[in-house]
Amino acid sequence: MDKIFAVYNSIFSYLDEIKISPLSRAYTFSDSVYEVIPFCNSNLIAFENHINRLEKSCDALNLSLDMEKTSKEICDLISRSKLINGYVYYQVSRGVDLIRSHIFDDSLSVETFGYVVDHAFKSQKLKVMICEDMRWQRCDIKSTSLLGNVLSMNDANSHGCDEVIMHKNNILTEGGASNVFFANEDTVFTPALSNNILPGITRELLINEIKNLGIKVEEGDFDINEIKDAKSIWLTSSTKGLAQVMDILNLETNLIEDHILFQKCEQIFVEKFLSGS
Ligand code: PDD
Repeated sequence: MDKIFAVYNSIFSYLDEIKISPLSRAYTFSDSVYEVIPFCNSNLIAFENHINRLEKSCDALNLSLDMEKTSKEICDLISRSKLINGYVYYQVSRGVDLIRSHIFDDSLSVETFGYVVDHAFKSQKLKVMICEDMRWQRCDIKSTSLLGNVLSMNDANSHGCDEVIMHKNNILTEGGASNVFFANEDTVFTPALSNNILPGITRELLINEIKNLGIKVEEGDFDINEIKDAKSIWLTSSTKGLAQVMDILNLETNLIEDHILFQKCEQIFVEKFLSGS
């Protein structure tokens, strides 16, 4: 495997050369946030939105991050790697403790870490499992505390599925690493933003494009059973783009492969963000 370009506390090197302390609060408490910033045909996709969300995540944890320096590091990683298509993973932790303690010392300096990898943005067709959303109540923060997502997605994986669609008390929330959309004949639906879902950048870009196309889009609270009648369901994320759900393990559906509304949404997304023009 080629060397992976990385940066730790603003020092550039390769991923396998970085040494971190086991007392990093990212390691002991998941006291950290992150971003996944995609680029396609050498164009950053919605860079400003990702930087703004990272700043919001840091604010939610009361972390102070030099956003200008961070933006430059992300761009430098990409240019050093010479990759054309890929994404940058960038993580910010509260810092490294002298000894593990829930109460943090205000004098800690933030610890930053990023790397860049190759990624092909190709369309995917998914099999998913419905599961109860067992996560905490601040899923709107892009935190590295992802144990609920990890356990659910691996449970789904052991049943031959690629992803999960979660619900909290029967109300649809999101995927394990994605937002969820569904459509009937003429309307696209997606859960409204709340503390229970991540404000996905792909979600936001797509909603704007759907509105521009003149297609009806409704954001709201949807019972998980409403997706039984959907003609099309898809998941969105910075690495998946729009990924069509073909089959749900534990719910009977009436999905139509490549339904016209999905096709329109995917086409506009690819043209607008992935074509490189
Ligand atoms: N995850 N919801 C969750 C729980 C996610 O982890 C993600 C993305 C999304 C979609 O957000 P966006 O469109 O901004 O990528 C929604 C990233 C890709 C990850 O953790 O790797």
